[in-house]
Amino acid sequence: MRRIGIVIGTTRQGRFGDKPATWIAGHLARYQDLVGEIIDLRDHDLPFFDEAMSPIYAMPNCPGASSWSQRIAAMDGFIFVTAEYNHGISGVLKNALDHAYREFNRKPAAFIGYGGVGAARAVEQLRLIAVELQMAPLRHAVHITLEPYLAVVSGRNAIDDFDFLNAGAAALLDELVWWTEALAVARTPRMEAMPR
Ligand SMILES: Cc1cc2nc3c(=O)[nH]c(=O)nc-3n(C[C@H](O)[C@H](O)[C@H](O)COP(=O)(O)O)c2cc1C
Repeated sequence: MRRIGIVIGTTRQGRFGDKPATWIAGHLARYQDLVGEIIDLRDHDLPFFDEAMSPIYAMPNCPGASSWSQRIAAMDGFIFVTAEYNHGISGVLKNALDHAYREFNRKPAAFIGYGGVGAARAVEQLRLIAVELQMAPLRHAVHITLEPYLAVVSGRNAIDDFDFLNAGAAALLDELVWWTEALAVARTPRMEAMPR
């Protein structure tokens, strides 16, 4: 079984992020080759980045960094569930991403965005960040745009009521299975010993 970390990218009280995270975890449960695990940034008490060096060169020393990096290292791939805060990703998500490096390397990253434009701008930013983290960002993403977002926030609908979102989830997960398996096979000790 390959492990997929479903990262909830916001931490504020009353956040929406739990809903798409739970929804995609339900879809992922139908895949025999993958097991989904919610990664909640609330459980990782990371300070604002204050290390002497980038995690490319040295493991962060701050409290919380060790459990964070171990959690990331244990995953074979990721689904980032992101809002858009002022046309970007949340500060708390960027800070968390900055606190690990090798643990993200050579693993696939898929994206679910929600909000006014389905967090399309935040997802694009995440793709760029994922490249710098030496991940493989997927083309497929799910964008929960304003109409379904408002319908779910108001309690009129569940995300599952929207066929186009369910179809998007299936397309994303089908692609994620392939990338997760391909990169897990490639991350063998022999391959990892090759110069970077
Ligand atoms: C600080 C802040 C900035 C926001 N900026 C945007 C934005 O640029 N674009 C957008 O579509 N929604 C924006 N919103 C609205 C969010 O899409 C909406 O509040 C969403 O529920 C936030 O995710 P969360 O509930 O998981 O925190 C913003 C919300 C906050 C709190």
